[in-house]
Amino acid sequence: MAIVRPLTAGEWRTWRDMRLRALADAPDAFGATLADESRRTDDTWQQRLSAAAVSGRDCPLVAEVDGAAVGLTWAKASEDGALVSLYQVWVAPESRGRGIAAALLRHATDWSAARGARHIELGVTTGDTPAVRLYRRLGFIETGVQEALRDGSPLVQQIMRLAL
Ligand SMILES: CC(C)(COP(=O)(O)OP(=O)(O)OC[C@H]1O[C@@H](n2cnc3c(N)ncnc32)[C@H](O)[C@@H]1OP(=O)(O)O)[C@@H](O)C(=O)NCCC(=O)NCCS
Repeated sequence: MAIVRPLTAGEWRTWRDMRLRALADAPDAFGATLADESRRTDDTWQQRLSAAAVSGRDCPLVAEVDGAAVGLTWAKASEDGALVSLYQVWVAPESRGRGIAAALLRHATDWSAARGARHIELGVTTGDTPAVRLYRRLGFIETGVQEALRDGSPLVQQIMRLAL
């Protein structure tokens, strides 16, 4: 069974390693690229996670099985707190199909509801993919808003939203 918990500021190496693995594994799923993210210095990774720990608006989450990190997501609340955006959703290939992403999203949903958010939103590359099926299964609905995944990419992401 997977445990889902917030990443602490000191765990920036875990976050960095997971994030770089995710970008190498699923380049079409994320707006960021492996080339850009792997150029970041250790200081930058450390500072981003330290800033999140004190922002009051960030919830970086890791899923672990037997003490090993196998999944990731990052929830970030808007300034007024009404909307939470979800980023970086990824589960290691060897751990997929066991409800780990669903557990990560449940934790993020509980965190969002507890702080009074009204909606959760995310962008997902269009297609009949495990990611789109996952979000639909958990109640997310396509908003109709579509945009390029990143500048110059033919890939399109759609915005999906869950009402809390
Ligand atoms: C999308 C992704 C996060 C899903 O992770 P996951 O942990 O495998 O997700 P789940 O296990 O909750 O669901 C995946 C499948 O397993 C099935 N499943 C869930 N729990 C299960 C269980 N206990 N037993 C058997 N099957 C199960 C689900 O029904 C689902 O099937 P489907 O794809 O046919 O709909 C993962 O595939 C991934 O990291 N993909 C690449 C990155 C990506 O696309 N990220 C999204 C960015 S927006």
